[in-house]
Amino acid sequence: PDQYCVFGNPIAHSKSPLIHAAFALQTGQAMVYDRRLAPLDGFALAARTFAAEGGKGANVTVPFKLDACALATELTPRAQAAGAVNTLRFDNETILGDNTDGAGLVADIVRNAGVSVAGKRILLLGAGGAARGVVLPLLEQGPQEMFIANRTVATAEALVAQFADALAHPGQLRAGGFAQPDGQFDIVINATSASLAGDLPPVPPGIFGRHTLALDMMYGAQPTVFMDFAAQHGAQVRDGLGMLVEQAAEAFYVWRGVRPQTQDLLAQLRSAL
Ligand code: ATR
Repeated sequence: PDQYCVFGNPIAHSKSPLIHAAFALQTGQAMVYDRRLAPLDGFALAARTFAAEGGKGANVTVPFKLDACALATELTPRAQAAGAVNTLRFDNETILGDNTDGAGLVADIVRNAGVSVAGKRILLLGAGGAARGVVLPLLEQGPQEMFIANRTVATAEALVAQFADALAHPGQLRAGGFAQPDGQFDIVINATSASLAGDLPPVPPGIFGRHTLALDMMYGAQPTVFMDFAAQHGAQVRDGLGMLVEQAAEAFYVWRGVRPQTQDLLAQLRSAL
């Protein structure tokens, strides 16, 4: 069987081996997938060693997504835009770096939640690595407008400058602080790491309404403070578990050329949280 793995530090709690084992079984692909702990200063060596052993590809998680971007000899446009790599494919001497996080988010919103992005008002909270990774895939869906709000406004403004050439019309992408967005948004995505600390980005409650989908990239047994706040103000809420499964399905497709079904697995993972 072909060998794959996920690199991270820590890595013990990664759900990726379980997800890819389920995909392999479902699609009848002969592959094995395990987890590898790389030393904090030793990602490149660990990845090259795995490739030399015959590894065909790998997922990359915290804190190695920038190291993986540097290691790749070729980058897909979406990895280049994200400035980070979560999926590597080893083809002889070539190390292809891809980023499936944004496609995973879009698939979860469009297919799983049944909400289209085209023509909508999108609010993206955060401007770090997680936010940057999803900007291009969201823009490609043709939103009416997308506002990037961040605690450090300059970082959000830098993202707007980075994606200036990808816009369908001027003003499609704007940036500011958390207090700035006004009126209701169709989709609000929390890509800050605030939920990890139990914090809430201080956004005005008026951004949420009954037709708003509020999605936190984090997930856990309990809703995040952001999900609770959005629900209190009438929004439909969603956590990041669907995005996790969909980014994995997209990576599986990059490696195997087969697109696995995700619904049953998502329900199964949900009930095990
Ligand atoms: P990640 O890869 O998770 O995006 P990151 O690149 O360190 O990690 O970015 C973290 C993001 O969460 C940033 O947008 C950060 O805001 P700043 O750019 O102002 O640092 C945001 N963030 C982290 N903690 C936060 C908090 N308590 N409240 C609001 N935003 C927070």
